[in-house]
Amino acid sequence: MHAARTVGRSVRISVALGISFVVGVAAPLSVRAQQAASAGVPDAPTFTRDVAPILQRSCENCHRPDGVAPMALVTYEDARPWARAMKLRTSIGPKAGVMPPWYVEKNIGIQQFHNDPSLSEDEIATLAKWADSGAPRGNPADLPPPKVYADNKAWAIGTPDLIITMKEVEVKSNAPDWWGEIPSVPTGLTEDRYVAALEIKEVNDVDTHSSLNRATVGGRFVVHHMIWRTQVIDPTKDQSLDPLSFLLDEETVNWPVHEVGRNADFFDPKSARLLKAGSSIVSDSVHLHSNGRDTKAHLEIGFKLMPKGYTPTYKRAFIGLGNGVDIDIKAMEPNQQLHAYTVLQQHTKIISFEPHLHAPGARMCLEAIWGYNIQTLNCVGYDHNWVRGYDYTDDSAPLLPKGTILHIIGYMDNSPTNKNVPDPRNWQGSGNRSVANMFIDLGMRVVLTEEQFQQEMATRREHLHVTKNDHVIGCPLCNVLPPPPRATGGPQQ
Ligand code: HEC
Repeated sequence: MHAARTVGRSVRISVALGISFVVGVAAPLSVRAQQAASAGVPDAPTFTRDVAPILQRSCENCHRPDGVAPMALVTYEDARPWARAMKLRTSIGPKAGVMPPWYVEKNIGIQQFHNDPSLSEDEIATLAKWADSGAPRGNPADLPPPKVYADNKAWAIGTPDLIITMKEVEVKSNAPDWWGEIPSVPTGLTEDRYVAALEIKEVNDVDTHSSLNRATVGGRFVVHHMIWRTQVIDPTKDQSLDPLSFLLDEETVNWPVHEVGRNADFFDPKSARLLKAGSSIVSDSVHLHSNGRDTKAHLEIGFKLMPKGYTPTYKRAFIGLGNGVDIDIKAMEPNQQLHAYTVLQQHTKIISFEPHLHAPGARMCLEAIWGYNIQTLNCVGYDHNWVRGYDYTDDSAPLLPKGTILHIIGYMDNSPTNKNVPDPRNWQGSGNRSVANMFIDLGMRVVLTEEQFQQEMATRREHLHVTKNDHVIGCPLCNVLPPPPRATGGPQQ
């Protein structure tokens, strides 16, 4: 089945259910729904047959020896003591604390994302039932073959075509946090090239095999984050006169922020990013954080390049969606809302949704307002310990006509229940530090010409079998079918 078909289908099912309630057949339907929901939960789940496949798919990439998580969940011996904790942490819904750390709300909006590790209702119920029935091992013959992982030094993007090594820093065991500018490093590129994928690694002298250093990423690395760009530095211009001049400079490209523990970034093949000849890596915002022992470290930036001669089909959209100026979060109050809007000046395809909030952030929704329509594209939980981006699949990425208003709603919890807030008695305003706030959707978007927009919608209609009665979330014009081609006067069947 096309995963994306469910976009239209789920809407039709909910309409049908609504009608059934009115005519009074709600009871048999809900019984049937319940049966359907539990069909995938085994009566007596075992580790080898039922639990191991779930852990392999959604947990092991972090919970394995050498992974970022505090304990491995690979073997029965690893997982058995954590049975109840796994039940708890997988069943709390899409909000801070849930495992795996993925916060898309499943009852609203678009549901098809690349690399979605989240568990189904059945899988959550299977883990719970396994824990409740004494966490049995089961038949060893049922165990799926172990998954093999590349070692941590391998690049997730494959061997990079270009690696830039940044200058080494030393962070002392007792050093305070440091935040500032670092020396620029030339890329050495002599021709313009486009970037298909990007990955940043911190290379340091921490001994990860010592049990003292097992902990989590905070105990292993010292470069907490780096906001950076590539820029052709022009020595004839005095850039100190206007430190923000690079924002208006076409030769400057901003790249995804490096954050400790962040995955590699793969760019949309139709809109790869330009790395200019003669450009340098420039950063005036590096944050260093001591890990408790003297550490020497440097970053390596690996680029996978598009073939020579590649040109992007789609241009990147430069849309500011957020409020960084007058955020006003009251003390000791949960559930406060922030709102920000922008009007799309061109047809736009939304490639990803990436809520960026700070400590009080608990949730963000993205809405598209087009004519009389208000569509909630997505609502996701937020945990400032786990900043995540969500990449839409090609058949689910919103296709929005120009004139659409994008609206983000931030839900902020500045109360003692939010463990990420150091002291909720403080009012919070805007700013860069974690004790101040940001409210932005950092997602990627591309602009489409009229022809590209029509073509994308035609493909979508074909893949999803859209009729004029369907309502496709994220594509308000998908069900406006173009008129059939006019008869040309030749013989007709
Ligand atoms: C992206 C990496 C990642 C994935 C995927 C992931 N975890 Fe975790 N997990 C962590 C990290 C890091 C922690 C410790 C920090 C925290 O609690 O958020 C953790 C904590 C936990 C804890 C709490 C441990 C304690 O000390 O109480 C449990 C239980 C857990 N994970 C289970 C799971 C299960 C089950 C899955 C899969 C369904 C999973 N995790 C998927 C990284 C991950």
